Order: sequence, then C-alpha cells, then structure tokens
Amino acid sequence: MARCPVTPTFGDELVADPHSGYARLREADPVHRTATPDGAPVWLVTRYADVRAALADPRLSLNKANARTSNDYLASMPPELDAHLLNTDPPGHTRLRRLIATAFTPRRIDSLRERVQSITDDLLDAFAGPPVDLMAALANPLPMGVICELLGIPEGTRRDFRAWTNTLLSPLPGVASDSRTAMRQMHRFLLEIISDKRARRTDDLLSAMIEAHDEHDSLTEPELLAMAFLILFAGYDNAANLIGNATLALLTHPDHLRATREGTTTVRAVLEETLRWNTPSTLAARRFALEDLTIGGVGIRAGDRVWLSLISANRDATQFQDPDLFDPARSERTAGHLAFGRGIHSCLGASLARLEGEIAVTSLLRRFPTLELAVPADELQWWRNIHRRSLEKLPVTW
Ligand code: HEM
Repeated sequence: MARCPVTPTFGDELVADPHSGYARLREADPVHRTATPDGAPVWLVTRYADVRAALADPRLSLNKANARTSNDYLASMPPELDAHLLNTDPPGHTRLRRLIATAFTPRRIDSLRERVQSITDDLLDAFAGPPVDLMAALANPLPMGVICELLGIPEGTRRDFRAWTNTLLSPLPGVASDSRTAMRQMHRFLLEIISDKRARRTDDLLSAMIEAHDEHDSLTEPELLAMAFLILFAGYDNAANLIGNATLALLTHPDHLRATREGTTTVRAVLEETLRWNTPSTLAARRFALEDLTIGGVGIRAGDRVWLSLISANRDATQFQDPDLFDPARSERTAGHLAFGRGIHSCLGASLARLEGEIAVTSLLRRFPTLELAVPADELQWWRNIHRRSLEKLPVTW
C-alpha cells in the first residue's frame, strides 16, 4: 500500500482558523496524513460521509493497546485513569456504559431542570458588570457546578478543574510534563474524594459507582477512578463551549437574536445549529485501525491512528446546504450533525448539555434584554487547540 508523506505537525491553520483550514482539506486532501503535536502520525478524516461511517465502524478501536506507535498523544496520563469508556471497546465498553447510563436518561436529566435553573440564577445574580466575561461568569461555572453535584463533589472540595483541563488539552508540543503534573493532581484529587465517599456514601453518581465496585464487583478500582475522571472531564468543557458559542452566534446574528427573543426561533434550535456550525468538540476520540482498511479511498494500515473531524464534517456542503451560514431553522429540515458523535460511543451527556444550554441562554436573554458584545467580534480570542472550539473570553455588556 503506498504511503503518503507525513506533514511535520498538525497544521497550524487548523488551530488558528479551523473552518477555512478544514474546508481546504475537504476539497483537496479529505483523508489527510499529518502528525499530532507530539509527532505521532495520524490520519485526519474530514468529509461528512467518511466521518459518519467511521464513527460507527467496529474496525476502528478506541483501545490504545491497538496502536502501532507507542507515543500516544494525550496518553501521558497515568494508566490509572485509562480504563474509561473512550479507551474501551465492547464488551468492556458495553458493561461500563450500562453501569452509568441510567444516570443520563432524558427523564433523569429533566429532573435536574430546577437545580440547573437555580445554579444559573445564582450565577446571573452575581454578574459584576457590565462588562462581564460570560465564559468566566456563566458558561464555565454552570456545567462545572452541575457535574460536580451529579457526581457528588462537595463545593468546599472542588479544585481548579478548569486550569487542569486547559493544561491537559494544550495543543503545544513540549508541555507533556505540565500535562503529567495536571494528571497527577487530578488523580490525587479523585483518590481523595473516592476515599471520603467510601467513608460516607451519599445519593450521587460517584457513590453509586463506588457501590457497583464495592458491593457488586461490576466495576474494577481502575475503572471506578477512570470513569469518575471521564465524567468530570467530559461533563463540563464541551457544555461550557456550547453555551459560549451559542451566545456568540446570537450576538453576531441580530436577526436570529431578535427571532429568539420573540420566540419565533427556539433556543433549542439555536443550540442544535450551534452544535453544527461551531462544533465544541472538534475531534472524536482517536481511533486505531484493527485491520488494513480504506477510508474515502485511502489505505489505512492496522495500528494506524485516525482522527475524525466533527467540526469539518458539520460544514460539509454535500450534507448541509450553505454550510457556512448560521441558520437555526435548518435543524428542523436537516438532521444529522455529528457534534455528539454516533454509534456506541455517542455522547452520554447530550441531554444534559442541551438542558444546560437551554437554561443558560434562555435565562441570559431574559435577564439582559440589551445584551451585546463588549468588544468587536474579530478581537475575540479562541483557545489554540485542536480538540475544542472554545473562546478564551466572551466579554458582554448591556
Ligand atoms: C455540548 C456538549 C458536549 C459535546 C459537544 C460532547 C461531545 C461528545 C462526543 C463527540 C463524544 C463521542 C466521542 C467519540 O465517539 O469519539 C462524547 C462522548 C461522551 N460524552 Fe460528551 N459531549 C458533551 C457534553 C457531555 C456532558 C455534559 C457529559 C456528561 C457527563 C458528557 C459525557 C460523555 C461521555 C461519558 C462520553 C463517552 C461515551 C462512550 O464512550 O460510550 N458529554 N461526547
């Protein structure tokens, strides 16, 4: 099988301006051979049809034991935190997912509505501006507060998870040691909280997982730790970015803002279109080919690493008419954005993220009828990151 040359680093343009960079790749080199920031070769898949099919392809494993190269980017974490859903294939994955799935059913999530509203109201009451950085004042703390309550992490014990996540997700090579430090801190924190909970169980997800381990033997100790880590980690960053990106989309599209305020466009439709148009989680978890296969006509060898670009698939003109246009009405016409993935690993927290987004944006618009950006949109800074589409700050005024 002929091999394409590996470009030295993950294209900087994809970090600085992902929408334009990916548009070029979809056109010219849709299954692109590149390298992770740590230098590991990776195939970057960018077209909708290829990404959609690959997300549910059992020949692509999430278990890094199937990698051909050992320097697995983002795997500088202690192995104690590895044993979670996004590193596991069936049948282990099926067992782990079943164990926590009941905590995330739409009905269970809807029962959190009042609590999410109350956390939102408290955060809005505490706005110190104008101006205010909406990421720091609402978008970050809301999902963080909710996921900590769901897991049962008491307020006094919470740490700066946001700073740890930012370090862990840093796109820059050479920060592996910082990343390892952040991982160790996270690991230590989780060990402490699990040991506290063992002494005094409460009615929360972490206690339920501890019970599954201690009494039913259905979860190993490493799985318990790693699952707590995944839920904490996956449970807020993407949801925070959905709130930030949806608010920005409305503030830069006055017609849609007006229609949303008047109720002719629903906040739910705005969120769905935001998930497509400015996808918070830009890449699915890396996968490894279990056998030689082809994607989009390109040969991939067993053990090769594959990245599926969700942000790119969601702007593919073969699936979405005028894909660069932000149009909330399209979510009723065209289903099928891939922001939450697809198949057995599809996002378990989708209902929770939608609920948080709906309450945050609705409450924000209601509370501040004259809300607008406090700086020109082109001055906003995005985290330079290949995994997330995330504003550093979103200054607003009213
Ligand atoms: C807008 C917000 C969110 C987005 C865009 C998002 C996106 C995703 C995506 C794309 C995947 C699939 C990854 C893959 O197949 O490689 C995923 C999986 C997952 N997400 Fe989310 N997520 C969001 C919010 C949440 C929340 C609030 C939680 C709550 C705990 C959560 C928990 C999970 C878990 C546990 C998985 C792994 C599922 C599995 O492997 O079976 N996510 N998410």
